[in-house]
Amino acid sequence: KYTVLTMGCQLNENDSEKISGMLEASGYTKTDDLSQANVIVFNTCCVRENAEDRLFGKLGEVKKYKENNGTIIAIGGCMMQEKHIVNKLKQSYPFVDIVFGPHTMQDFPKDLYASIVENKKIEDILDIDGNIIEGVPIIRDDSIKASVAIMNGCNNFCTYCIVPYVRGRERSRNPQAIYVECLDLAKNGYKEITLLGQNVNSYLVSERKQNKNLNLTVKKENGEEVEVNSFAKLLRLINTIDGIERIRFISPHPKDFTDDVIDSIRDCDKVCNLIHLPLQSGSTNVLKAMNRKYTKEQYLNLVEKIKAKIPNIQFSTDIIVGFPRETEEDFEDTLDVVKKVGYEQIFMFIYSRRVGTVADKMENQIDEKVKHERFNRLKSLAEKIIEEGNKKYVGTVQKVLVEGKSKTNDKIYTGRTETNKVVNFEGNDDLVGKVIPLKIASEHMWYLKGEYEN
Ligand code: SAH
Ligand code: SF4
Ligand code: F3S
Repeated sequence: KYTVLTMGCQLNENDSEKISGMLEASGYTKTDDLSQANVIVFNTCCVRENAEDRLFGKLGEVKKYKENNGTIIAIGGCMMQEKHIVNKLKQSYPFVDIVFGPHTMQDFPKDLYASIVENKKIEDILDIDGNIIEGVPIIRDDSIKASVAIMNGCNNFCTYCIVPYVRGRERSRNPQAIYVECLDLAKNGYKEITLLGQNVNSYLVSERKQNKNLNLTVKKENGEEVEVNSFAKLLRLINTIDGIERIRFISPHPKDFTDDVIDSIRDCDKVCNLIHLPLQSGSTNVLKAMNRKYTKEQYLNLVEKIKAKIPNIQFSTDIIVGFPRETEEDFEDTLDVVKKVGYEQIFMFIYSRRVGTVADKMENQIDEKVKHERFNRLKSLAEKIIEEGNKKYVGTVQKVLVEGKSKTNDKIYTGRTETNKVVNFEGNDDLVGKVIPLKIASEHMWYLKGEYEN
């Protein structure tokens, strides 16, 4: 039996599903009970300090299973690309059996076998970018919504961010492989696909720049052949797959949000009317120091352009508060953008220093107290904006993809609107996995209440 503990983003979750796939292909079965597991795999994240702390807390907890049951403890994921962390593990957590990184994930069964048969510690980490590996088995956590990684790595080097160091340079998957995976999901009854990448707008851009000899012709199920050489064309391709009802993608970078992508979102009925458009900061000065390559005005203009082209489009975003040198004025610029865009959802983060990044070495790091005070101010504003935005739904009919029963009430079912709002309603099992119209009766900050009429 095995347990995989996922600690990071959706890409990390997708990797965990592949680790599960490889373990099940090797004869293991899943358990949530750590005391029953023969193998415990941690899939780590290092994007912020609290993600790191979670690993060390949890490792202390699993030590007893190692001692009592001889459980194999394996740690993979982004954090394993950080040398100081691997050294710390060796020194302070010698009971860990296997460490592996995102570039060597596909070799995990081999590492596990070696650890069992040879009874030795395995360290399997590559410093260079791994190749894109196709054909890794996958056991998905959900049966309605699925994520599909379309690329690995990031070339942007935002100065706060560790991801480019641990995930390496951008590498895009072949469009045919993505098409086949999505087709297969549709055949297995999946209704929603989220395309994943650190910067989906630069899908195939590196490959095109390097003149790599990629086959960009996709042979479709009906025999038709289409050329897919950009993210915009990939959206159009996935939109033609029968059975798939919703397409989402995270994350685009505002600097690369080209018009062809806007046109694809507008033209493709399955692409959801919600764009996750990471702002990070509303201050042009801070954006410059973050190496984001857009100004406050350029971001706002992009939002306006998209709103003008696509009726009913909504936005969600990521924001960091307390970046080095952020002044009160800079912070107010962030609040200003939040008010002007009126997001549906805001993921807020307190700036966390990451070893090896440019921002970690910047002077004028912001005092913890100030960071927290700004975070709380942003949170209050965000809640106000979200509450205000929720009102527009009341009285409307929304298409909701029903995900299942509510955890707390047997009669209540739950689903999501195209704009990713949770809707709770009285329903029945037959509706699960279907997109149905629901009349929105009321709004409650974190969910809407819907009514279903047979
Ligand atoms: N590639 C994605 C983001 C990946 S990380 C993108 O560019 O949108 C997810 C989010 O974590 C980022 O958008 C950012 O808001 C936040 N983040 C990244 N590094 C951080 C740090 N050092 N401190 C706080 N938040 C951070
Ligand atoms: Fe990190 Fe920036 Fe790359 Fe996103 S685009 S992963 S924030 S470096
Ligand atoms: Fe994701 Fe964390 Fe790695 S956010 S890409 S798991 S550092």
